[in-house]
Amino acid sequence: MDARVTKERVIRDFDQYVDERIDDGVFRVNLDMFRDPDLFELEMEYIWEKTWVFVVHDSQIPENNDFITTQIGRTPVILQRGDDGQVRAFINHCTHRGPRLCKTQRGNAARHTCPYHGWMFDSNGKSMMVTDEETGGYSQAFKSMSHDLHQVARLESYRGFYWASLSDEVSSLKEYLGDVSFFLDAWIDQSPNELEWVKGDANFTYDGNWKMVFENCLDLYHAKTLHASFGNAVMNRFKNMGEDERKSINLDDFVNATAEVSYYNFDNGHGALWIQNQSQQEDRPSYAMYKEMEARVGADRAELMLSGKVAAIFPSILFVESATFQMRMIRPISVDKTEVYAFCLAPKGEPDDARALRIRQYEDFFSTSGLATPDDTAVYRSAQEGDQARTLEWNQGYHRGIEMIQRGPDEKAKQMGFSPTLSIHGSIAIQGEAMYIGPYREWLKKMKAGQDSALSNLSGDVHG
Ligand code: FES
Ligand SMILES: [Fe+2]
Repeated sequence: MDARVTKERVIRDFDQYVDERIDDGVFRVNLDMFRDPDLFELEMEYIWEKTWVFVVHDSQIPENNDFITTQIGRTPVILQRGDDGQVRAFINHCTHRGPRLCKTQRGNAARHTCPYHGWMFDSNGKSMMVTDEETGGYSQAFKSMSHDLHQVARLESYRGFYWASLSDEVSSLKEYLGDVSFFLDAWIDQSPNELEWVKGDANFTYDGNWKMVFENCLDLYHAKTLHASFGNAVMNRFKNMGEDERKSINLDDFVNATAEVSYYNFDNGHGALWIQNQSQQEDRPSYAMYKEMEARVGADRAELMLSGKVAAIFPSILFVESATFQMRMIRPISVDKTEVYAFCLAPKGEPDDARALRIRQYEDFFSTSGLATPDDTAVYRSAQEGDQARTLEWNQGYHRGIEMIQRGPDEKAKQMGFSPTLSIHGSIAIQGEAMYIGPYREWLKKMKAGQDSALSNLSGDVHG
């Protein structure tokens, strides 16, 4: 290894990218975080390939031998339920010479056969056949090697939601999630039977950095402007079709002056927001189950279940309940290209009418053919283009609400019994942006830790 060249590439003063001075009313991140390709590679190495990344919900692979494919950082993976019913995560890589074994996004397969030379693996990842092994003149050393698929280092489930890690050096998933799981529970507990995947999904790419979609899901500020066409379409529909027609969610929910909002940061980079005292809760699909929910979990939690809310689990997965509920898996491709795999989960056993309403609302706002998601992806691309202005280093997009930050929980969090590291609470009109502090603190922590570890390995290489 050429230590000098490697060192030049590796050593960065990451503190220069995150300027956090809350007491002076300043928080900002450097634009190179969105446009520097070398930094992107370091993010893959130090963040995505070192932490928990969401990979699948149990209901997406319900039958033995069901699989889906995704990626963790730069690594393609297969999530497969084996013929014994157990879910496993494998690197999607033939152990012979490396092609991806599964090309399709999902399917059911008792075995995977490599298209190159025909090596075969069962749904538990075990090698079934090395093609023509007996005539191949293989050595005893080769025969004693495992040809099985490589398992991903860690795979754990939180109530049916699976995260995987390429690194063994991560805490337990429960510890990693911490108190943001309060919000996950609010979605999961809508039904005593928990959640199920609503069949159908959408992959879309946008020409922008992966952090843009992460930021966007915690951004209420843009709804009134960027999604004005969605709001107008909905209002025209109400006028023309009448109030009792199948309803979209009215964007008044986001700007209604009587609503309040709490924003939270949690350990490990997670963020959340929760819109309270919203109007139009009867237009939510889960309203059909409200009485049962209230009897089972109490009025406060039932109210939360019907509220607009977001949980952004750093760095890979967004739980978004705005128009309706959507999961967004973030898959970074390059510094300026990101794939989002989006799908809908719903309470198991909800009434047919409620399910139909959920799907209509989902199509309306979220789908790639919906009235809102394309606006978001277009503006990410535009921001990526604008951020190419190399004489500029900073945007001003993280200051809204910064004066209202509280260390620790707000009253709402205390009442409900969870412990954020930072809170903002106030009128919905805040439309705060300061709660990107937590995710970017985690970004900084991970980048520094990754570099320290890489440098200590490097000095081992040079001097060892
Ligand atoms: S590369 Fe897979 S069988 Fe040869
Ligand atoms: Fe949006």
